[in-house]
Amino acid sequence: MKTKLSQPLSLGLLVALVTNCILSVAQAPLPVSVTPPAPIPFAASNLTQLGVRALAANCAACHGTNGNSAGGAIPGLAGSNKEYFVLQMKAFKEGKREATVMHQIAKGYSEAEIAVIADFFSAQKK
Ligand code: HEC
Repeated sequence: MKTKLSQPLSLGLLVALVTNCILSVAQAPLPVSVTPPAPIPFAASNLTQLGVRALAANCAACHGTNGNSAGGAIPGLAGSNKEYFVLQMKAFKEGKREATVMHQIAKGYSEAEIAVIADFFSAQKK
């Protein structure tokens, strides 16, 4: 005589076995006590040394790493004059300097952010 488990019962058994297995692994004590590392802040404030690097990285796709443009139509930013830089960003923002893209990009940054970005790029070697 054949004994055959009905489909729902065998499925239920499988679920119970898997659940039991997962639970026993989850409850197993860690072999060594591990002190979790201090959480890394998700993002630094834009106005810190780390933050300004992140801001400047937004410009790298076009202006090159650390503002060293590959040449061509896009000007380099490395070693630029701070005042000139800030004035250009302001002019882009206010639509006073004609641009293909910078009038849009400049709108995304506050005056304080533009000031720290200007500091950053003016300090980069050409
Ligand atoms: C999508 C490409 C692109 C990105 C990204 C970009 N730029 Fe530009 N940038 C340009 C182009 C192109 C010009 C020339 C003006 C124009 O046509 O918009 C320019 C011009 C400038 C100028 C004027 C330089 C000069 O010599 O007069 C400054 C300053 C500047 N960008 C700053 C930035 C900063 C700061 C960022 C990042 C926050 C940035 N750009 C991101 C493409 C870009």
